[in-house]
Amino acid sequence: MMIDTHCHLDLTDYPDIDQVISKMKDNIIIVSGVNRESINEVIDLCNKYNNVYGTIGFHPEYAEDITNDDLIWLEQKLQHKKIIGIGEIGLDYHYENINKEKQKELFIEQIKLGNKYNKTIVIHSRDAIEDTYEILKTEKESQIKAVLHCYSSSVEMAYKFIPLNVMFGIGGVVTFKNGQKLKKVVENIDLKYLLLETDSPYLTPEPFRGKRNEPENIKYVANEIANLKQIKVEEVFKKTTENALSQFDLKLDF
Ligand code: NI
Repeated sequence: MMIDTHCHLDLTDYPDIDQVISKMKDNIIIVSGVNRESINEVIDLCNKYNNVYGTIGFHPEYAEDITNDDLIWLEQKLQHKKIIGIGEIGLDYHYENINKEKQKELFIEQIKLGNKYNKTIVIHSRDAIEDTYEILKTEKESQIKAVLHCYSSSVEMAYKFIPLNVMFGIGGVVTFKNGQKLKKVVENIDLKYLLLETDSPYLTPEPFRGKRNEPENIKYVANEIANLKQIKVEEVFKKTTENALSQFDLKLDF
């Protein structure tokens, strides 16, 4: 079994959603909703497909628009039994003219919901790893688990996050020729802290880079991790599946 721990299966990108999900029928897909529209779609997918679970939360790119009503709405949606995490939430300092304070506020409000409902926190962090670390260290209750999705920082930073109960989502970038930094992370960080993800429809692994991504492509990510660690791909599937079940407190009901 393999688990795609992070992807976005918006209907506008996947008119063939039935087929895409049926290719993963013996596996698990964790879909992430990042605004009201995609959160509603995630919940529909959870209701429709046995092997689909969800994480929901407001992405930092919406930080300036999210109201208290939105957070109350999110809190209600979190009660669904197949919603196993809050996210992706976090910080994105990539573009100019972003409001860092608003992003931090929204991140903290949602970490508090994770604390309150014992939900795994799924983090988006782009050009903001130091602030992400400080906020997580201060705001997250220590027993709450977290995932740095699409991890893109250094080996040294990864070692700092591990004591905060954090695992690292590894995706298609690890297969890229220019993915040296992530390859180094995979080589140096114990497999027990790694999760597989596609971040579909983005970041399609080689040999399909540039095409639309889908959860089934998780196997190319697993292959590259096996190469880098010089172990069998079966071991990558087995261990990362155990990691995901544990990090999301996932009890399978199919
Ligand atoms: Ni994502």
